[in-house]
Amino acid sequence: MRTGAQLLIGAIAAGSAAALPAVESQQDSSNAAVDCAAIPSPFPTWQQLPVQSTMPDPFLPLKYTTTDNAASSSTFAQDVMTGKGQKRVQTPEEWYKCRQPEILQLLQEYQFGYYPDHSQEKVEATRSGSTVNIAVTAGGKTGKFKATLTLPSGASASKKAPVVINIGGMQNAPYLSAGIAVVGFDYTSVAADSNSKTGAFWDVYKGRDIGVLTAWAWGFHRTLDGLNMTVPEIDSTRVGVTGCSRLGKGALAAGLLDTRITLTMPMSAGVQGIGPYRYHAMSGQDETLENSKSGAGWWSDSKLGTFVNHAENLPYDAHTIAAAIAPRALIIDQGTGDQFTNSKATAVIVYPAAKLVYDWLGAGDKIGMSVRSGGHCDMSGFTSILPFVQKIFFGTPTTKDYNSLGSYGSPMTTAYPWYTAVPKAS
Ligand SMILES: *[C@@H]1O[C@H](CO)[C@@H](O)[C@H](O)[C@H]1NC(C)=O
Repeated sequence: MRTGAQLLIGAIAAGSAAALPAVESQQDSSNAAVDCAAIPSPFPTWQQLPVQSTMPDPFLPLKYTTTDNAASSSTFAQDVMTGKGQKRVQTPEEWYKCRQPEILQLLQEYQFGYYPDHSQEKVEATRSGSTVNIAVTAGGKTGKFKATLTLPSGASASKKAPVVINIGGMQNAPYLSAGIAVVGFDYTSVAADSNSKTGAFWDVYKGRDIGVLTAWAWGFHRTLDGLNMTVPEIDSTRVGVTGCSRLGKGALAAGLLDTRITLTMPMSAGVQGIGPYRYHAMSGQDETLENSKSGAGWWSDSKLGTFVNHAENLPYDAHTIAAAIAPRALIIDQGTGDQFTNSKATAVIVYPAAKLVYDWLGAGDKIGMSVRSGGHCDMSGFTSILPFVQKIFFGTPTTKDYNSLGSYGSPMTTAYPWYTAVPKAS
């Protein structure tokens, strides 16, 4: 399993090289050799990780987060939480070479399960009208599913449209009017939202300890493969992924695990998505690691279950997932009337904590927060984020302020006390 993950990370690193800012040219030659802290192997258990009541420092390598590396046990957890940990990443170059790949690996270890090695897959696709039939074969097994395509008027092979791939439906009309194609697939035919392990993903990968959110992410990626092969009217280099609630958790995973995704659009996503494990009770119903694992344990791998009742030992939180997507674009939508997904903590903690990393990487304009009125999965979320989507896909300027937290006011910096210790970008 580990081998597959390393291949994926290799693929991500190679795939992202072109899209990343040219940090190397900004460094002097003494910084040319970057030494990464070794990724702990095996990964630490919850007992080897300190209790962190605040959002973990994204700049601290996992090795220096484990209590095995505590120089002084009395102040260790406090130092880790406040940005005084050892050997923190100091430059964007170190981030992209060391910390971002480490985060991708630890998220697969602790939450998502190891994404299958795509280089071992054969993808076949055929198009029939507005349907794209996709078949993926690996290890002698084949899984099949369909995607449905709606093109904006005027799209052609010489005037390609960007695309938003969604699961569970979205507001199509304003996107089509804006010149954006909308593609959907039946997520239950990729992986059922249950323990049944049925669907195209499990037809190929049954028996693996992988979460259903990751299976859905794989569905997005294989859909993109199929579009790229059969729909010349779509520009496969401008791709958004979206879904709401549990499907927003899946869309976030899709954006995280494939650098071809230009824009990640989680809507009302909550815990195991863009809602925090810590600070879980700040608005409405209290979605937690514990109740999400007991209600839908299949969303993640089994490792996440070992942190039940120990969520504060997790060495990451939702802001870490968001930060690992940088410098690719991320727009987060939450409704103030949402009773289910802790919109307030997403807006005042997760978003600004992740934005510190985006800003530091010089990609601050690629992350946005949409705080709107309305409830859980209210379709108005799609119009609320559309100007941001148009900015990313077409470069269309917008006057809408996606740094505004609306009625929630200001960021809650006490939740990420390392904010005063963001490394100086050189
Ligand atoms: C589309 O397919 C071509 C040819 O196989 C490949 O080179 C390219 O990377 C693919 N693009 C995407 C976005 O997958």
